[in-house]
Amino acid sequence: MDTPGIHSSLSIANKAVLITGAYGLIGRTIAEAFLQQGARVVLADIAVTHQEAIQNRLAGQFSPEQFLLHHLDITDEASCQAVVAATVARFGALDVLINNAAIDAKFDKANTGKVNQSRFEQYPVELLRKSVDVNLTGTVIMTQQACRQMLVQGKGNIINVASTYSMVAPNQSLYDFGQGVQQYKPIDYIASKSFIPNFTRYIATFYAQEGIRCNAIVPHAIFNNHEEAFLTNFSRLSPLGRMCEREELIGPFTFLASEASSYMTGSVLSVDGGWTAW
Ligand SMILES: NC(=O)c1ccc[n+]([C@@H]2O[C@H](COP(=O)([O-])OP(=O)(O)OC[C@H]3O[C@@H](n4cnc5c(N)ncnc54)[C@H](O)[C@@H]3O)[C@@H](O)[C@H]2O)c1
Repeated sequence: MDTPGIHSSLSIANKAVLITGAYGLIGRTIAEAFLQQGARVVLADIAVTHQEAIQNRLAGQFSPEQFLLHHLDITDEASCQAVVAATVARFGALDVLINNAAIDAKFDKANTGKVNQSRFEQYPVELLRKSVDVNLTGTVIMTQQACRQMLVQGKGNIINVASTYSMVAPNQSLYDFGQGVQQYKPIDYIASKSFIPNFTRYIATFYAQEGIRCNAIVPHAIFNNHEEAFLTNFSRLSPLGRMCEREELIGPFTFLASEASSYMTGSVLSVDGGWTAW
C-alpha cells in the first residue's frame, strides 16, 4: 500500500461543507478552521445574534467566494431544502454536512441559572418536546434534504455531533456548585441526543452502497468561561482532569470530513477526555 499519501488524505481543501448551528461555540470554531484549510463553507443558523460579527471576522480573513452565511431552521423542511440549494448554487456540490445545531442546557457563567432546574419528576414536558423537535426531528429533516443532494452526486459525507450524554447519564454531582443548591442537567438534552449514535448507524448502513458515509463525533465540555466551582468538580470527575479547549475539536472534525476516514462509516468518535472510559 502506498503510505506517503496518508498526509494529503487529511486535506479538506475545496470541499463544500455545510455546518448547521454554525454561529455557536463549536460551529464557528469548526467553520473558521475549515476555511483556514481551504474548504468552502456554508455557515447556517437560526440565530441572528453574532451573524454580523462572524460575517465581518470571516470577510477579514477569507475571500467572499469561500464562505456563505445562511439562515436556517432545521425544524423546517423548506428551510433545509433552501440551504442545500444555496450550498449547491454557490459551490456546485454538498460534500460534507455537519449536523451540529442543537438546543443544549449550558452551565458556563453566561448561562448557569437559565437552565430549568425542575427535578426529573417535575420537568416540563413542553421543554422535552421542544428539544426533540430541534435535536432529533430537525436533525432528521436536515439529513433527508442533504441525502437527496448526495444521492444525485453519488457521494457525500455526514458528521453528526453527539454528546457524552448520548452515551452515558450525567453525573449530577458535576452541577452541585456547593452552595447547597443541586442543579441538574435536564432530561430533554439526554433524551434527544441519545438518538444521535443510532441515527448515525441507521444512515451509515442505509446509504453504505450509495456513496454516503455517516459518522458521529462526541465532544464533551468545551471550556467557555465556566465558574471555578464547576472546574473543580469537573477536574475530579474527568480522567484528563480538565475541560476541552475548542481547538482540540479541529483535528477530529477534519479527520472525519477528509478522505483519511474513508473506511469509516457508522462510527462514533469520542473526544471526551476519557469521560466515558470509566
Ligand atoms: N459545548 C459543549 O461542551 C458540547 C459538548 C457536547 C456536545 N455538544 C454538541 O455540540 C453541538 C454544538 O454545541 P455548542 O456548544 O456550539 O452550542 P451553541 O448553543 O453555542 O450552538 C448551537 C447553535 O445551534 C443553533 N440552533 C438552535 N436551534 C436551531 C435550529 N432550529 N436551526 C438552526 N440552528 C439552530 C443556535 O442558534 C446556536 O447558534 C450541539 O449539537 C451540542 O449538543 C456541545
